[in-house]
Amino acid sequence: MLKQVQEFESGDAITEVPLRHSPAVKAAPRRATLSVQFLIAGGLVMQVAMIVAGYLITELVSREAIRSKAISTALFMQNLVGPTVQELATSQTLSAGAIARLDQLFADEAVKRRFPYFEVWTPGGVVAYSNTPQIIGHQFEPPSGLLRALTGEITADHADPRAGEHVIRGIRTRNLEIYSPIRQEGSSRIIAVAEINERAEPFRGELAALRRSSWLVVAAVTAAIMLALFGIVHRGSRTIETQRKALERRVEETEQLLLENRQLSDRVQRASARVAELNEQFIRGIGADLHDGPAQLISFSILKIEDVRNAGGKATRDRSLLTMQSALDEAMREIRSISKGLVLPEIADLPLHTVIERAVRAHEARTRTRVALATVELPQPVSHAVRICAFRFVQEGLNNAYRHGGATGQDVRSWMDGSLLNLSVTDSGGDTPSVEKALPGEGIGLYGLQERVESLGGTLTNRRLREGGNLLKMTLDLSGGLLVA
Ligand SMILES: Nc1ncnc2c1ncn2[C@@H]1O[C@H](COP(=O)(O)OP(=O)(O)OP(=O)(O)O)[C@@H](O)[C@H]1O
Ligand SMILES: [Mg+2]
Repeated sequence: MLKQVQEFESGDAITEVPLRHSPAVKAAPRRATLSVQFLIAGGLVMQVAMIVAGYLITELVSREAIRSKAISTALFMQNLVGPTVQELATSQTLSAGAIARLDQLFADEAVKRRFPYFEVWTPGGVVAYSNTPQIIGHQFEPPSGLLRALTGEITADHADPRAGEHVIRGIRTRNLEIYSPIRQEGSSRIIAVAEINERAEPFRGELAALRRSSWLVVAAVTAAIMLALFGIVHRGSRTIETQRKALERRVEETEQLLLENRQLSDRVQRASARVAELNEQFIRGIGADLHDGPAQLISFSILKIEDVRNAGGKATRDRSLLTMQSALDEAMREIRSISKGLVLPEIADLPLHTVIERAVRAHEARTRTRVALATVELPQPVSHAVRICAFRFVQEGLNNAYRHGGATGQDVRSWMDGSLLNLSVTDSGGDTPSVEKALPGEGIGLYGLQERVESLGGTLTNRRLREGGNLLKMTLDLSGGLLVA
């Protein structure tokens, strides 16, 4: 029984339910925020896009720059050379006069520096004029620029030093070669193609500057796009982050609430179990009260019947009858007080040591035996339940000492051990069985007492002493709300 009660008590004490957080909320490693992820991934993509776009744009811009340069040079050439080479509409060669005029045109130093080479090709690939006279009249493999110019297109490209007309003159520099169609006056017929070689160096510088500024523009636009997108993503990310935190808080609150609910329902469950137990205890208490009080007195009276029967004289019989009467009167009083629900009213406001003393004196008076008494005075009053418990303990202990221990060496003590109140009833009577042996079936005195003590959170032991006799002891922790404030 003791074990069972302890098990219930320890089960009762389980109030802590481990707080469980959902793994997604707490255990997950912290991931980079959306904006940081965007900065890394978006930055990489944007850089690749910028390089591709920059390359295409600079290529396009430089090609366009070369083209517009070619067009302006070609127009200049068409105006300058066109009238002089009109005779090629009818002939494959130029007259000496025309060649002299052209020579004159390109004799100017400034023109020569800018345009080091100049040729006029016939549509058949023959050089009709060149400022390098030895190639005049030569036919070469028509350069691709010439073929395209024959379709009416103005082309500009870097000179190929492997081309026959360049090899023959030992030209190695990659100048800009512009092919421009020259039409017959008053018609759209292409009668010749002018090839002008323009020095690329000054233009290369311009081109490099153009490329640089194109790259700068692309980079600036990319950075601006990236910054704008980052701003948007960052704002969104911040909103998500705040919402995530709020959600986390909500989940935590919900978990906390759930935990509180669980604890509450546990407490309700325990309380209802406790109520049922208390009810049971109350019934057992009444049983114990009836047993410990009136039943003891009545059983004592029954013992006295034998004395009456065996009494030798009237005086002895009267004395025994008187004792019986007083025991039965007391039993009646107790039954009345129990039925009124007022258990042991005489100890209502007494300090604990007086309550113990009352129980001892009542036993002494009833049994006409001696009980040694040593009690401690507590600085603070104890609750009514403790006083009743102490009274019943002494009463039952002394009754057992009287009935089973021959009322020899009866001794009642109380002492404090920290916050623990200890009470003992010893006797030096004969053979005492252990509680384990004693409890089943033989009587309900110790059993009821054990219930009573344990309901207050205390412990009860009853054991045979090595030197003979019996020790009944109870221990109560007064720090657990058993003191009266
Ligand atoms: N002081 C003691 N000396 C010797 N034996 C004892 C002592 N106290 C208890 N016992 C033994 O333990 C048994 C159980 O005691 P318990 O008080 O529960 O029942 P009881 O006294 O026999 O009957 P009840 O108390 O119900 O009138 C007793 O029957 C007795 O054998
Ligand atoms: Mg008993």
